[in-house]
Amino acid sequence: MSDSVQVYRRLLGYTRPYWRTAALALLAMAAAAALEPLVPTLLQHLVDKGLIGKDPQAGWRLPLLLALTFAAKGLVDYVANVASQAVAQHAMSDLRQEVFRHQTGLPLAEHQSRSHGRMLSSILNDIPLLSQALSSAWIIVIRDTLIIIGLTVKLFLLAWHLTLLILLVAPVVAILIRVASRKLRVSNEAMRTLAGQLAGQLEAGLSGVKELKIFGARDYESGRFNQLSEDLRRASMRAVRVQSANVPLVQVLAALAVSGVIFVVMTLSARNLLTPGEFFGFVTAMSLLFEPIRRLTNINGTIQSGLASARGLFDLLDQPLEPEGQGTPLPAATPLQPIVFDHVTFSYPGQERPALQDFCLTLPPGQTVALVGSSGSGKTTVAQLLARFYSPQQGAIHYGPHDIAGLELRSWREQLAWVGQQVVLFDDSVAANMAYGRPDLPREQIVEAARAAHAWEFIERLPQQLDAPCGHNGLNLSGGQRQRIAIARAFLKDAPVLILDEATSALDNESERQVQEALNTLARHRTTLVIAHRLSTIESADWIVAMDQGRVVEQGRHAELLARGGLYARLHQSQAQGGDSQD
Ligand SMILES: Nc1ncnc2c1ncn2[C@@H]1O[C@H](COP(=O)(O)OP(=O)(O)OP(=O)(O)O)[C@@H](O)[C@H]1O
Ligand SMILES: [Mg+2]
Repeated sequence: MSDSVQVYRRLLGYTRPYWRTAALALLAMAAAAALEPLVPTLLQHLVDKGLIGKDPQAGWRLPLLLALTFAAKGLVDYVANVASQAVAQHAMSDLRQEVFRHQTGLPLAEHQSRSHGRMLSSILNDIPLLSQALSSAWIIVIRDTLIIIGLTVKLFLLAWHLTLLILLVAPVVAILIRVASRKLRVSNEAMRTLAGQLAGQLEAGLSGVKELKIFGARDYESGRFNQLSEDLRRASMRAVRVQSANVPLVQVLAALAVSGVIFVVMTLSARNLLTPGEFFGFVTAMSLLFEPIRRLTNINGTIQSGLASARGLFDLLDQPLEPEGQGTPLPAATPLQPIVFDHVTFSYPGQERPALQDFCLTLPPGQTVALVGSSGSGKTTVAQLLARFYSPQQGAIHYGPHDIAGLELRSWREQLAWVGQQVVLFDDSVAANMAYGRPDLPREQIVEAARAAHAWEFIERLPQQLDAPCGHNGLNLSGGQRQRIAIARAFLKDAPVLILDEATSALDNESERQVQEALNTLARHRTTLVIAHRLSTIESADWIVAMDQGRVVEQGRHAELLARGGLYARLHQSQAQGGDSQD
């Protein structure tokens, strides 16, 4: 319970900047609550003065007042609704932005350990649930509580003994609500987990749609999806049953209370306690109580599921981010420094076998060092550690005098440009993908980079040229075209350290030769780490390092390594025999 209070308080913290609107909403709710007891009061006078007392003025004045009361009620209800929705929507938009920003700032290890579906679902499913808990729940809890208080005061003023009789039912209602909220909490947690899995399944099914078709996995994937969908239905129905049982129970209890009151007034000597008008007013006020009580008990479900979502979101937000701004910033005009891997040992989270073991490597400033080795030997891992996506468990990576672990992350990554093994393009225009994150880069510069990466040839032929959409994951383009855009992106970043992980693997021989020339130009005056399976592309590197199982096996220049007849020579020979194969 106290945990729920804490979570709700933290959630309310998001409404603080909008306290003015929230105050307006509260004011409107208070007005709505104050107007509510006016109705039974007016009816009471209508009976006593209009019908029994035959007061001629009451004949027109009371109906007029009644109409005005309802008009005023309508107005304040409107204001209360709109104002509290405005607060909730503002708060949710802020929270949504914070969650997205936080998710993208989490360390890679954290991304690896969390399911993608769960992360998608926090923005797509959790935030709307939260918004309900903040807006409608908020209105209902505050306004209806005020209304209930107002009506109860009215009842007390009319006949306090009868009111006490009704209040006897209150503890029973309270116990019912407690039991129900515990049950709801459990099924809401289950629903959140399932919704996350469903989102993950959906994402996997849609992004892998080609594989799904070719491998005839439609039935298999639908089967998994259907199973989750059914589980979600069952969990939702459990919550619905608990929530729906609340309503009739409260109504039955309320009806019992009314019948009790009528019985007492009719049969016992209480008849002379109340005028007919007061009696009418009393019963009206009582029946007006049902609706807010029903809403209040029902809203518990909404609040519970909102709290379940909030708990999950806050758990995510409490995960520490990569320390982007901490550490020593690199001075703006730092000359190129040597990069040294000093006895680095690293295993991926949850992995026992190290991906790199006692790994030593020096990248002299301005030179090109190539990493070769069989698949899984740890080449990409070297690049990932250099980019500080992960940190070594032993040893260190130095950039001149600095341990890169102590450098400010942002300024370190500014030194790096990367063309990765899997090209990632965003669902945006060709130009935006090349100038990624820098929308105000001049067009001429983008065109120049596109020419340098030999991408201009095909971009020129696209109907919308630079504004052509790349499609989800760059699906509108061929593999080689995507790769050339990624290379142009690296050109545009113009960073001193260049990482090329299989940067030309998707190109045919002719384009590869051209792009390779461009990359050689780009690599000039930069420190370059190039990873390639096709050894012909790295023959001219200043230094070649052959890796196996996370260790350096041999290193030297192309001719020396060939002469030595070791791993490099073997790799080279097998490629020479197998033609220009990629593996
Ligand atoms: N994110 C990860 N989590 C766990 N293990 C990983 C991860 N990425 C790579 N590995 C493991 O680390 C080892 C080295 O992988 P790495 O990607 O560095 O190989 P590589 O030399 O780049 O191979 P390839 O030539 O196929 O790209 C492999 O055994 C791989 O299974
Ligand atoms: Mg790799």
